[in-house]
Order: sequence, then structure tokens, then C-alpha cells
Amino acid sequence: MTARSFGPVIVVHGGAGKAATDVVEARRAGVRAAVMNGWQTLTAGGSAVEAVEQAVKMLEDDPAFNAGRGACLNRDGEIELDASIMDGRDLAAGAIGAVKRIVNPVTLARAVMEAGGPILLVGEGAQQFAAAVGIQECAAEALVTERQRARWTALRQECAESVGTVGAVALDRAGHLAAATSTGGLPLKAPGRVGDSALIGCGTYADDQLGAAGCTGDGEAIIKLTLAKTALEFLREGEEPMEAARRAVRELTARTGAEVGIILLDRYGRIGVARNTAQMACAWIREGNIDPEIFD
Ligand code: GLY
Repeated sequence: MTARSFGPVIVVHGGAGKAATDVVEARRAGVRAAVMNGWQTLTAGGSAVEAVEQAVKMLEDDPAFNAGRGACLNRDGEIELDASIMDGRDLAAGAIGAVKRIVNPVTLARAVMEAGGPILLVGEGAQQFAAAVGIQECAAEALVTERQRARWTALRQECAESVGTVGAVALDRAGHLAAATSTGGLPLKAPGRVGDSALIGCGTYADDQLGAAGCTGDGEAIIKLTLAKTALEFLREGEEPMEAARRAVRELTARTGAEVGIILLDRYGRIGVARNTAQMACAWIREGNIDPEIFD
């Protein structure tokens, strides 16, 4: 194909899995608002990094999603958050794992990226970094919703499984790509467990020469397949974006049987989306089609 860019483009997702009907509706509204927020950033001349951060922040603030406020609780009944962000211009990346009391983990991940030192900070070190760069902690209970507390109580009795994460990929007017992901992880996860959403190449990847990808679902399976980078390598092999996303999910399903979803853009801004779950609320906007397309 010709190297014509379709940018700007933004795609967001609100997590793969299966949700109750009222949550599905809330998530549709949430991804719509988030994609419009990211789009406004892009059309105002903002970078792809700014757009994915703004979109993911909005999803973190929305209690319908398993990220930021509304995140699921770990085995001890606490919230521990993972997030990452990557700039396709120069492969700069930042990530945080198992942080507590942070309202917008994606903003902390961006601060880690911009500091230009370690790419991944976890636990107490990440909390100290947040304080050093002026990101305030909130009260632990400020992130806990009644829905997640009730779910934790129910899950402790039946040990059911669930998934969910939020993420965004974008291509800006200058032709640069970015990806960002944020999650509360898996319900009842072991304290200290860090999933794919904090790991560059697994839950998040962006490279202007290739594309940008964000994953959702069973983090351990996504890590085993380094799913975001694997899907982008399929683009390098010449796959169309939609087929690259589907092939990544097919391979993961065949190798692990786990539940996942993925969104991606190729370097021209063409969209790929795939999931093997019942639902994954998604929305995208691109030049010439500014009414968000929503599907789950
Ligand atoms: N994909 C989110 C997690 O497993 O932590």
C-alpha cells in the first residue's frame, strides 16, 4: 500500500471480558467520552502521547472500568494499580506496577517516561517517585467503589474469574504513534502481582516504524506471548491491521486458552481490533469520521 497516513486516529478500549448489562451500558458511554477527549487533544494539535494519556485518564476516573477509581481489589482487599505508556517517536516508555492510592496511574507512568531513567517502577519506589514529582496520593478508600467491594466479598466465596483493563492507541497529525494502558489487574490477585499492563511489549507497545498496540485480558497469558509486540511483528510481516490483531488473539487462544482482547494501529493509522471474549467496549474516531464508532 502507499505510505499515506490516515491520521489523526484514536482508538480506546474499556477491557475484555463479560460484564452485567448495566455495566455494559456504562462502559459504552465511558469509551465514547474517552475517545472524544483524546480526539479533542489530537485536533487541538496535541501529541499522540497526550491524547492516549487524556483518554486513559478519563477511563481511570470512570468507576465503570477496572482502572483508577473502580479498580478491582486484590486478595487482601486493597487496590494495586499497573499502567504504562509508550511514545512511538523514540521508543521512550514509562510504567508503574502495584502502586496504591494514585488516582491517575497513567499520568504517573508518563512522569516515569519523561524522567528518562528506569522504565518500570513498582511498589514503594513508585510511590516515592510520585511524591518526588508532585503527584499526590489519595486516601486508599477514595478509589474503592461499592460495586468492587461487593464483588470482592462475593468472589472470596466462589473464586470466580474476571478481566478488564483500559487502554488507548493514537496517531497524531505529525505521524507519531503512542499507546497507554491502565488496570487494577485481576480480582483477588496476590498482593505484589504485576501484570502485562505494566510491561512494555506485553500490554503496551508503540513504534512509529511499526504501529501501536494495547492489550486487555489475562495478564499472565499476555506476558507469555508478549502480545502487543507480537501483533505488531505481524504487521512487519505484511499482515493487514485487522488480521494482525485477529492472528495475535488466535495464537494466544491456541497456546493458552486465555481470554484477551487487543486494539492496534499500523503506522498509517489503520485500525485492528480483536477479542475472544463476550465483550470489549471499544470506540474510535478518525479524520473524516468524527462521530465515534462504538462497538463491543
Ligand atoms: N490485563 C490486566 C492484568 O492481567 O493485569
